[in-house]
Amino acid sequence: MTTFVPLKDLVVPLPEDFKGFTLAPTEYSPRLLQLTFAKSTVEAFLAAMAEWPIQALEYKSFLRFRAAKLLDELCEGSLQPVLINTLVDRDTGGMLVTAEGLDAVEQADDMVKLATAVAHLFGRSNYDAMSGQYYARFVVENVDRSDSYLRQPHRVLELHTDGTFVEQDTDYVLMMKIDEKNMEGGNSLLLHLDDWEHLQTFSSHPLARREMRWTAPPSKKVDKDVFHAVFDNDNQGRPIISYIDQFVQPKNFEEGNWLTDLCEALETSQHKVSFSVPVGSFVLINNHFWLHGRDRFTAHPGLRRELMRQRGYFTHAKVLRNPRQ
Ligand SMILES: [Fe+2]
Repeated sequence: MTTFVPLKDLVVPLPEDFKGFTLAPTEYSPRLLQLTFAKSTVEAFLAAMAEWPIQALEYKSFLRFRAAKLLDELCEGSLQPVLINTLVDRDTGGMLVTAEGLDAVEQADDMVKLATAVAHLFGRSNYDAMSGQYYARFVVENVDRSDSYLRQPHRVLELHTDGTFVEQDTDYVLMMKIDEKNMEGGNSLLLHLDDWEHLQTFSSHPLARREMRWTAPPSKKVDKDVFHAVFDNDNQGRPIISYIDQFVQPKNFEEGNWLTDLCEALETSQHKVSFSVPVGSFVLINNHFWLHGRDRFTAHPGLRRELMRQRGYFTHAKVLRNPRQ
């Protein structure tokens, strides 16, 4: 039986001889924890998963949960409570996950398997309309003609949350780096809502709770607008945010200028966390109180970055938000 122990008790209580993974704060922020799978765990997991290629995980949703179970068993049942507790803990809610020995683009399928297993210990990844799968792999190159900033290297991808223009709950975001060549800059940027200097000012403003219209560009393959406010409360009354600069459609002067002020107040925060995600590692965050973005890169003709993302809903915790009406 899994016992859900509060995170703070879990930082140390793993058995003395436990070697499955380690957990510690990152050097970037005490709110962002580093979870590192031991090489032996990674190898045993991939061996156990050898009979199932990625296509099997794509076609049979339930196998994603079997992958999760296999990984948790290799970690003596300790992984699932650590993940659940960390992701719902307002004080942390974020992880950088690294798997020893998984660090080359040739291992991309293995990376997707491991990330899938982790995600399905606490949630279920949503259908991603951009890829038609439960995950999306995409490439950033030196030249891009897409219709959003997602793949445009020389621009800052400003702080936002995911899932603002879809009706599915998006409780978590998982962003993995599969490949990187000739990259200078392009750090991941994160901001925890409780570290933001202007949270009180903006979350208590009358416009914070006004329903606004959110719409996506054609590449997202989402053709229906969604309506919701920028701020909501979780079930303990703490503010949570659902916001992205590019896809909110203010209806008038008042909303447009408030959103511009909000964007500037986020971008100029002194508490943004900036770091480079190594190839094979992924960021895993609670999408209700962590905003994410990406810094600009330096142009290079041979620039290539490949990423994989999964977004989904929590299956073990319902503490984060009031259900969207
Ligand atoms: Fe995003």
